[in-house]
This record gives sequence, C-alpha cells and structure tokens, in this order.
Amino acid sequence: MKQGSNTLEKPLTTNKHLIRWVEKMAELTEPDAIHWVDGSQQEYDRLCEEMVASGTAIRLNQETWPGCLLVRSDPRDVARVEDRTFICSLSKDSAGPTNNWIDPFEMRRKLKELFNGSMRGRTMYVLPFSMGPVGSPLSRIGVELTDSPYVVCNMRIMTRIGLPVFNEIDKGEVRVVPCMHSVGMPLAPGEKDLPWPCNDTKYIVHFPETREIWSYGSGYGGNALLGKKCFALRIATNIARDEGWMAEHMLILGVESPEGEKTYVAAAFPSACGKTNLAMLVPPAAFKGWKVTTVGDDIAWIRPDATGQLRAINPESGFFGVAPGTSEKTNPNAMATLHRNTIFTNVALTPDGGVWWEGMTDEPPAECTDWRGQKWTAEIAKQTGAKAAHPNGRFTAPAAQCPSIDAEWENPEGVPISAFVFGGRRSTTIPLVFQAFNWSAGVYVGATMGSETTAAATGAVGVVRRDPMAMLPFCGYHMGDYFRHWITMQRSLTTTPRIFHVNWFRKSDDGKFLWPGFGENMRVLKWIVDRSHGRAQAKETPIGWTPYYEDIDWKGLDFPRDDFEKMQEVYRATWRKEVLGHEELFIDLHDHLPPEMIYQRELLICRL
Ligand code: GTP
Ligand code: SPV
Ligand code: MN
Repeated sequence: MKQGSNTLEKPLTTNKHLIRWVEKMAELTEPDAIHWVDGSQQEYDRLCEEMVASGTAIRLNQETWPGCLLVRSDPRDVARVEDRTFICSLSKDSAGPTNNWIDPFEMRRKLKELFNGSMRGRTMYVLPFSMGPVGSPLSRIGVELTDSPYVVCNMRIMTRIGLPVFNEIDKGEVRVVPCMHSVGMPLAPGEKDLPWPCNDTKYIVHFPETREIWSYGSGYGGNALLGKKCFALRIATNIARDEGWMAEHMLILGVESPEGEKTYVAAAFPSACGKTNLAMLVPPAAFKGWKVTTVGDDIAWIRPDATGQLRAINPESGFFGVAPGTSEKTNPNAMATLHRNTIFTNVALTPDGGVWWEGMTDEPPAECTDWRGQKWTAEIAKQTGAKAAHPNGRFTAPAAQCPSIDAEWENPEGVPISAFVFGGRRSTTIPLVFQAFNWSAGVYVGATMGSETTAAATGAVGVVRRDPMAMLPFCGYHMGDYFRHWITMQRSLTTTPRIFHVNWFRKSDDGKFLWPGFGENMRVLKWIVDRSHGRAQAKETPIGWTPYYEDIDWKGLDFPRDDFEKMQEVYRATWRKEVLGHEELFIDLHDHLPPEMIYQRELLICRL
C-alpha cells in the first residue's frame, strides 16, 4: 500500500497468517485503503450510501421497496463465464475433460501479472465469510479480498460475514479458503470511476489442492460472489470427496403432510431450470393442510450422520434468484422475500421507483427504464426486441425473509434427506417424472442428465447439452471420479434416499408446455414423497418406475388422462437417440468412468 495512506485500519483478527496474507496481497494489488469488514448494519448502510453516491446503485422508493437497491452491470458482464473458468489442479487429468485446465505454475504467473496493481485507486475489503451457520460442524470458512463494495453487500446477504467469522478464525482450528477478487479496473489518480467497473479479460480460477480461488475481471454473480459456485461447489466438491461428503447444486425443501409427516427432498436442476421456484412451492388450494418449506434454493452440503442417514445444510443465507418469470402467480414466496432489503441487478426501473421484469405482471408498465438505463415501452420492445430486464437479471434477498423458510433451515446438524431429484429443461423425450430402480441406476440417471442451456451462463441458449447432476460447470475435479464418489457414498448409508427425475418443460408439437408447472408440481412432489416412504404404486418402464394416472393426486385440477399419458410417454425410438447422447460425455470420461455406469447403460439398452 502506498506511503502516506491515512486509512491503515487495525486488523479485526489476531490470526498472523491471515494478516500476513492480507499484507502480501495488498503489496501485490496496491489498493488505496484496506477495510476489515465487520458485517454490521451500519457498515452495510454506509457501503450502500457510497454506491448510491458513486452512481453504482439507485435507491428504490423506500415506501414501497424499503432497504432495496437497483444496480445495472456493464452489458458485457451479465452472467457466469464458463469458458473463462479454470480448474488448475497439478495434473490435467485430475481436472478432467469437462473443465478448462491450465498448468497451475503458469496460471499463478498470469494471475500475478493481472493482479499487479489491479486495486489502485480502490479500497480492498477483507471479507470473512462462513458457508453454513457459524460454528456448525458442516460449515466452512473463507476470506474474500475484493475491490468491489457491491460484492461485499451481496455477500452480506448471501453468507454469514464479519466479526463472528473473524472470531472463528481466531480460534485457530479452521482452515480458511483464500479468495482473491478484483474487478480488474485500477484507477489512475483523479480518474473517474465507472458505475460498474470490470475488465474484458476474465479469469475465474480454482486451485483445488491448495483450496484457493482467484477471480479477475468480473463483478457479476457466481464470477464474483466467491462463496457461491467457486467455494461452495468447485472447491467444496474437492473437500467433500476427500472427507466423504457431497457438495451439490441442489435446492433443499421440506414437505409436510396434513398428518404432520415431514419429508426433506434435495433436487438438482441446472442453472435457471427451476430450483428457486420448486424450493418455494405453494401447494394448490385443494391440497389443504399440505405445506412446503424452504431450506435452500441453490446449494446443498450433504453428509452421512452417525446413524448412516444423509443430512443436508444450505451453506448460503440468501437467494441470488432469477428475476424474469418471478411473479405473485409463479412464486409468491419469492415475491414476498424480495420486497425489502434486496439488491436487484439488471432489472427495469419503473417511474415510481420500483422494479419490473418480464413476467412479473401480465401487463407491463406503460413505461420504464430498462436494465441498460434506456427508455423501454412495450411498443419499443415489439420493434427492437429489447428486454426490460436482462434474462439473467437477479435479486439478492435474505433467506430469513422468506415466508416459507423451514424452521430447521439453520440447524447446524442439517435436515435428513429422503429423496434426490434430478431434472432438466427438455422439450422432448423426457417424461414428467420417473423413479430410478435403485441407487446406482439413479446415479446413472443423474450422470446422463441433459438440459437446454439458459441465460445463466454466457453463450448460446436453448441447446441440449449433457449436464451431469447439474454440475457440469461446478464440479471441481474429474467428472468420472465424481460419479464414482456418488456410487461410493451409498456404502456409508443405512437408509438410501430414493432417486427421481423430473421434467417440467416437455412441449407439445405446437410448442406449448404440456405441464402447468410451478404450484402444480406439488402433485409430482407428493408422488415422490409417497414413493420414498414405500407407499404409492408405479409402473415399470425401460427407464424406471413411472406413476399411473391414478397414482397422481388430481384434486382441484382438470388434467385429462390423455395429456398425462402424452407427457409420460417413453418412446423407444427417441430413447435410443437419447442413449447415444449419453455416450457424448461418457466417451470423454471413459478412463475414469466407474464400471457401474457401463453396466447401467447396458441394462438400459437391453430394456429398450
Ligand atoms: P439458478 O439460480 O440459475 O440456479 O436457477 P434456478 O434453478 O433456481 O431457476 P429458477 O427457479 O429461478 O427458474 C428459472 C426459470 O424457470 C424462471 O423463468 C421460471 O419462471 C422458470 N420455471 C421454474 N419452474 C418452472 C415450471 O415448473 N414450469 C415452467 N414452465 N417454468 C418454470
Ligand atoms: C447459477 O448460474 O446456477 C446461479 C447464478 O445460481 S450464479 O451465482 O451466477 O452462479
Ligand atoms: Mn444455481
């Protein structure tokens, strides 16, 4: 740090390693000041104030949107960048063919170059965070050094930060994951800052052996909030494999029957494929006495307890949810959650100081300011195709504000998991729901999952790709070894969760969704719960067990038997193609593929 800087704050930790690392990183990045984040409300308010003053954030109407801000990103920095994401393990083989790999020594050289002076003119925030409740045996701690106040504010919502975490570190018993983050836009003396500084050069880098994260050039979502995909998935998959647990891209929900029976389910869908919506499901009115509660909407850390039962925690404490499509009709719990203390990114601003996005209301506002800051009307949209909100526009909202939040959501021991659900966005081939015959067949179902790509990552949208367990962009080591880890997990269990596959997105020939989805998914969820408890009937098909029309509870919905059968149809001809699609990934993974995957494929082919 420069001589004469008057902002030498006293460190909020006594941990010498941490202090030394912060000094070293400050020497490298040359920030104007260092701020040790205490996590207090006053500090958060001050940072918000500063972001409003600098033009980064807009304060929304405080009557209708108390505590809420709107931020517009640079249009070139709107989603995760999978092609700029690297797993730099010592050997290329450990990263596997589904990850980008660069030699770690070479990458360190590159990063030193990039971070050299990268924080000039900015403050470096020392942000300690706990993934999972502070002090839980399942929790893990990281410290993010970032030059983005936007990141600090979002991380305060998404994770537990500040003094309690420094206290944990000071006990000296935990291993801290160091996370470096710079938006990559140093300021020359007197240079005016941009509302959303970033750099066209982007690197999202993980060193699995040393459990380190380095992120450069982006301020957006999973690129910059390093507790989320970088730590809680890419690094955590490595820790979990070594320690015998699982880090998954899964929501966790509870289903409570009118009789008071509580069942927890964890579900893996790829990005922007319905996790937040399912986690906050409101059962149809006819389902009197049924309740669905939310433990988490994106990530689950799952471990067998002393009795061999899998238990899961949500390592996060907030939701970074997709805004477009979220409405009182589709997800009233999300709407209630995001009405206060929420940071909105890349949605539209209404003239009365509120926010709007496609799908929020049936009628768009007469006029608003779109996510790029330009005038937007329905007429302009018709002519130019401009969206009011970016398709990956998001809300960052505290989980504790969610009306459906589960009473046990912060239980340090986690909640018991009875079923796993995999699901993708597939307009053809895949039925609404089926159950795998057993654990290894279920692992095969997850391993061969396909989904159409979405706006959550940069690149083409709507292309079917294999996305095993919704983890293709998030598994921090060889995908074949990850399947093996799943197979092996069964040995530490006394009760094995049942495994299911769902698809809310199958379409008719005229391009309409065959299934109403959202709250109506309760009907599928109920069958899943019943099957997990060994109750409901099912029909054996080549791909697994499927419900008969009679096995689904149709009360309050007029859904013709024919339509259901259309949705559930397993066409042998299209499934033959699907199996060839499974090969797409298996060929690349073959030398690490557990034999169970080969056997399961052969059995499936025989049945087809
Ligand atoms: P990430 O935060 O990126 O991990 O996404 P997510 O998996 O939490 O997805 P989310 O619940 O935010 O849903 C993404 C999109 O899918 C939204 O536009 C939803 O409206 C839509 N969606 C969710 N559930 C359903 C459903 O049951 N049917 C249909 N047709 N669309 C759905
Ligand atoms: C996802 O893409 O799966 C997300 C959003 O949950 S991000 O935090 O950007 O990864
Ligand atoms: Mn996600």
